[in-house]
Amino acid sequence: MTQDEMKQAVARAALDYIKGGLKPESIVGVGTGSTANFFIDELAGIKHLFEAAVASSEATAERLRGHGIPVYDLNAVTGLDTYVDGADEFDAELNLIKGGGGALTREKIVAAAAKEFVCIVDASKQVSCLGAFPLPVEVIPMARSLVARELVRMGGQPELREGFVTDNGNLILDVYNLKIRDPKAFETELNNLVGVVTNGLFARRAANVVLMGTTTGVETIKAP
Ligand code: A5P
Repeated sequence: MTQDEMKQAVARAALDYIKGGLKPESIVGVGTGSTANFFIDELAGIKHLFEAAVASSEATAERLRGHGIPVYDLNAVTGLDTYVDGADEFDAELNLIKGGGGALTREKIVAAAAKEFVCIVDASKQVSCLGAFPLPVEVIPMARSLVARELVRMGGQPELREGFVTDNGNLILDVYNLKIRDPKAFETELNNLVGVVTNGLFARRAANVVLMGTTTGVETIKAP
């Protein structure tokens, strides 16, 4: 099975996972990235079963609309039953690193509004300790250097994501050289840096379930 076939398989598995709980008034939270794109394409086949989606990025909103799925602003809904999204890394506690595509802030907001976060990944994303994937940190442009110096002080090696501006008009620092032993504490510490909008650690709101595509099929991993 290729990596794309694994992504396709987990997208289908996610659809099966959420389908039974959908009601005509349901709003589905939808993530960003190549795996989420496979999910959006699957979701199109059952668009008659739910009311609308909330998107975690402009790109996702555009793809959803392209399939004729209505996209609501998060402020227009009182909450979401489910959020389905990919990840760049996940550990045994289902803590995640996200933001490889730069959509981390909106992803974190939509995930926070959802009762259940279903994370869809291929097997390459499973790690024992988060941090081999550079941790994305979204920063207000004028605070870029200030935050970068703080990140160095904290043991990281920040690199500006060249030529990239987030949907919120901010910049991304990708932080290399981290071994994140206490994801919740580190997430909070980063959030407390002045000028940081969000960081790509999803530990305070980790996934509830990970559907992982492997060469032999999809594994379901629940939070311990
Ligand atoms: C987008 O900002 C990210 O958080 C993605 O969810 C993450 O990078 C996973 O993307 P892929 O599914 O493309 O690997």
